[in-house]
Amino acid sequence: MADASQKGGSLAALPGAIGKLRASFYRRCMTTRRLFTTLFSESALDDPALLEQLAHSCRTLAVDDRAGRTWSKEKGYRGYTSYASLGDLPQRDPVFADLVRALNRHVAAFARECAFDLARPLKLDSLWVNVMKRGGVHSGHIHPHSVVSGTLYVEVPPGSGSLKLEDPRLAMLMAAPVRRPDASPDLQPFVYAEPTPGAIYLWESWLRHEVMPSDAKDARISISFNYR
Ligand SMILES: [Fe+2]
Repeated sequence: MADASQKGGSLAALPGAIGKLRASFYRRCMTTRRLFTTLFSESALDDPALLEQLAHSCRTLAVDDRAGRTWSKEKGYRGYTSYASLGDLPQRDPVFADLVRALNRHVAAFARECAFDLARPLKLDSLWVNVMKRGGVHSGHIHPHSVVSGTLYVEVPPGSGSLKLEDPRLAMLMAAPVRRPDASPDLQPFVYAEPTPGAIYLWESWLRHEVMPSDAKDARISISFNYR
């Protein structure tokens, strides 16, 4: 005959066993759909020579574009951006025109993946260069009036910050609990993408994102763009 302590032990284990049975039962009976998907595309510019030419053009602009340098300084941008000074890079430099031809293909593939019902292919709206120095950041933002936005990473020295992507529903989460660290990326409120040279990231322009601080000794060079 089992003594009282043994009896108590087996009884204590019972709720756990029932819980496991119940969880397995629900797993078998329950269908969970993943709705309202946010697509984020990671591909690569498969052209090392073009990437090298782009790096050279970006560095040249960072020296020659005085209006852009002044704007960057006034706005506290650590480094150089052509964002406010040069709106015609693909017309100005054939290297950027080559890039746009490649980007058109990537953006068209992403638009198909998004199942956009488009009357015409998405077209480049703007494209700008970022040469960001150590400590450079770009706080959380979206790209208004565009459909697809993205960045090509030209040079990414070790220590360059990641791109932080934010759940677009954060403002409505109210009392939603935080997610366990081991939850899958599509359940996390923040996702950090770690670029490598040649990487092309694409996302829908409403997706809020943030460039995390760079601790790299050398400049991180990227080219950002909007399509609509
Ligand atoms: Fe951005």
